[in-house]
Amino acid sequence: MAKDERGFLWGAASAAYQVEGGWQAGGKGLSNWDVWTNIDRVTEPVSGKFETGNVAINAYDRTQYLEDIALMQRLGLDCYRFSLSWSRLLPDGAGRINATGVAHYQRFCDDLIAAGIEPIVTLFHWDLPQALQAEGGWHDRRSVDWFRDYARVAREALGDRVSKYITFNEPFIDLFLMEPMIAAIKEGGAVTEAMLGRQGIALHHWMVASAAVIADFRAAGFQGEIGLALPLMPMLPESGSAEDAASAGRADAIINRWCLDAMFKGRYPDEVMEIFGRLDPAFRVEPADFALMAANRPDFLGVNFYAPSYIRSDAAAPFGYRWFDTNPDPAPRAFNGPVRPDALRTLLERIRDDYGNPPIYITENGAGFGPNDEVMERGQVVDPLRADYVARHIAAALEAKKNGVDLRGYMVWSLFDNFEWLFGYARRFGIVHVDFETQKRTPKLSFETYRAIIARGVAQV
Ligand code: NOJ
Repeated sequence: MAKDERGFLWGAASAAYQVEGGWQAGGKGLSNWDVWTNIDRVTEPVSGKFETGNVAINAYDRTQYLEDIALMQRLGLDCYRFSLSWSRLLPDGAGRINATGVAHYQRFCDDLIAAGIEPIVTLFHWDLPQALQAEGGWHDRRSVDWFRDYARVAREALGDRVSKYITFNEPFIDLFLMEPMIAAIKEGGAVTEAMLGRQGIALHHWMVASAAVIADFRAAGFQGEIGLALPLMPMLPESGSAEDAASAGRADAIINRWCLDAMFKGRYPDEVMEIFGRLDPAFRVEPADFALMAANRPDFLGVNFYAPSYIRSDAAAPFGYRWFDTNPDPAPRAFNGPVRPDALRTLLERIRDDYGNPPIYITENGAGFGPNDEVMERGQVVDPLRADYVARHIAAALEAKKNGVDLRGYMVWSLFDNFEWLFGYARRFGIVHVDFETQKRTPKLSFETYRAIIARGVAQV
């Protein structure tokens, strides 16, 4: 039950590979990330050391996670969003079910519920069983059925403990940023447009798989809510030129509207059909795929928001523009871009207007700064930039709610510092500091800021 008087859910989010550790514990199989970090060594080496999620922040360990749940209670959380490790439940990706993995997630959910915290489960947050990766991963259309079988196992295992599911986390970032960067690191080359073109096929499989799982859940009598979490970022032209404006429109179609249109309109933007059809002849969308999406609209949209992006036309770059590495914004900069809470408000209001005002949870919002943004003072970690970031983004989100956006909750990324993918442990997003050597948790100033906001409640912010 929500503690906030208006039913608004205050939460925090995480993902299995980033926090669990226990990479070979309890009968878990290998995932693609286990291989990429341990064998291919794709992470940015910090002091000469290649990072992995082998231990991460030890959240697989019950003694550890009970301590963590106590911190969640102290913070006043209503919900905790986490992902399941597919290779913990199905070590070979398909077929054999690992009873130890099932028991682990059942107990974790029970422990959360006993503490008054609602579990929100992400089915896929980027760690695919290696056995399936070796079969072609998401490029193979069979991945739709692999995912459906896994989702059924998860739903049956968790039963009525979980009433909110997220099928996929951030399609665009995993498929268009992480995977191509990893391929480029392994091959020692650059990310090319042809590589990205091929990723369109994988993204299409995610959208079909998501709609199919939504259909399966409903057919099985699932009474809760099921949605997706998208990485949404307003695309701002870097200059006033017509080229930059056109590029920003194209970037918006690929990065934002592709998945939004799939979820709420049962189609893809024309730009996507044109660009990806041209880049890879294997990019085919059957009319039945769109019909499936149209018939299985998600119950909610999960918005992961960090920063807007600036777009600069560049004929030599994939899709004719550059993003991510451009930033003329005078606002202070966090790791993922300029700090612009106003862009969150306008984004939420745009979704209200363009997509029929769907229920929205902010499923991620937070800030990673450089290594020197926080200092340890008398046992507390002082992180004024993150505290300010969180407070201002919550205020902007609640303003959008006042303006009619159907906003149902806010989840900070992240409760704890953790494994930040290709950047290893060098980027800290937690409102609780983790000493990665000792696993000691120390709440930061931003923890106290968020705690005070939750205590005041949504009506009073
Ligand atoms: C989005 C991803 O979902 C999450 O895994 C990542 O750590 C954060 N953004 C921060 O970059």
